[in-house]
Order: sequence, then C-alpha cells, then structure tokens
Amino acid sequence: MKNVIALILAGGMLSVSLHAAGDTKAGKVVYDAKCKTCHGADGAGNAVLAKTLKITIPDIRTPEVQKVTDDEIKKGIQVGKGDMKPVKGLSDKQIEDVIAFSRTLLKP
Ligand code: HEC
Repeated sequence: MKNVIALILAGGMLSVSLHAAGDTKAGKVVYDAKCKTCHGADGAGNAVLAKTLKITIPDIRTPEVQKVTDDEIKKGIQVGKGDMKPVKGLSDKQIEDVIAFSRTLLKP
C-alpha cells in the first residue's frame, strides 16, 4: 500500500514538472478551434482531409508523436512543419495549453 501511494505521488510530481505550465481544459478549447479540423477530435487525424489535400496527418495519440518535445511542437505551431502550416493568432499561453491538451490524447 505504501508503495502504491509513493508511485502515485511520484507520477503526480512527474506530470506536474513536465507539463506544469499548460491548462488542459483551456487547451481543449484552443484545440477544438485551431487543430481539430486537421487532427480530428481524438487526435487520430482527419483522414478525409488528408486524402483531399494529399498530405499525411500524424496520429497524435501514438507514442512516436508523444515523444516530440513541447518545444518542437510549439515551433511547429508557430512556424509550421512540413504540411502543417503555422497556426496563427495563438498566445504563448494558448500554445502551452494546447500542447498540454495534446498530451492527454495519448492512447492508454
Ligand atoms: C492544416 C492542418 C493542420 C492544422 C490546422 C494543425 N496541424 Fe498539426 N500537423 C499537421 C500535419 C500535416 C502534420 C505533419 C507535419 C510533418 O511532419 O510534415 C502535423 C503535425 C503535428 C504534430 C506532430 C509533431 C511534430 O513535430 O511532428 C503535432 C503534435 C501537431 N501537429 C499538433 C497540432 C496542434 C496542437 C495544432 C493546433 C494548434 C495543429 N497541429 C494544427 C496538420 C495540421
């Protein structure tokens, strides 16, 4: 039982230290407005759009994409990456929040 509590505490601290800045609730609002069209409500990617635009939209839920650091994702949002155009009109805080929300999409 003690071990379980220690694990929960350690896990809690880890997630706090990694994603302290982002507010996932506010991030979802940003995601729904700015990212969902391409990435889909659950992060799997909008297959129809990808086909229409002849681009590949990565599945945000995969461990590969979750390995991408916050800084890289932020850069992708600000200056674009490959077929992902820069997403305009977001404050630093909104970017932090939407990244924090993206982290919640990881497949269990
Ligand atoms: C116009 C469609 C489009 C929109 C809008 C869009 N993305 Fe993307 N996203 C893409 C594509 C395409 C890629 C693949 C880029 C590549 O590697 O070529 C991508 C890649 C990513 C990745 C993978 C990270 C990486 O660096 O490889 C993340 C995370 C991501 N997007 C998050 C977001 C978030 C968060 C938003 C909203 C703020 C957003 N995207 C808006 C199309 C989009």
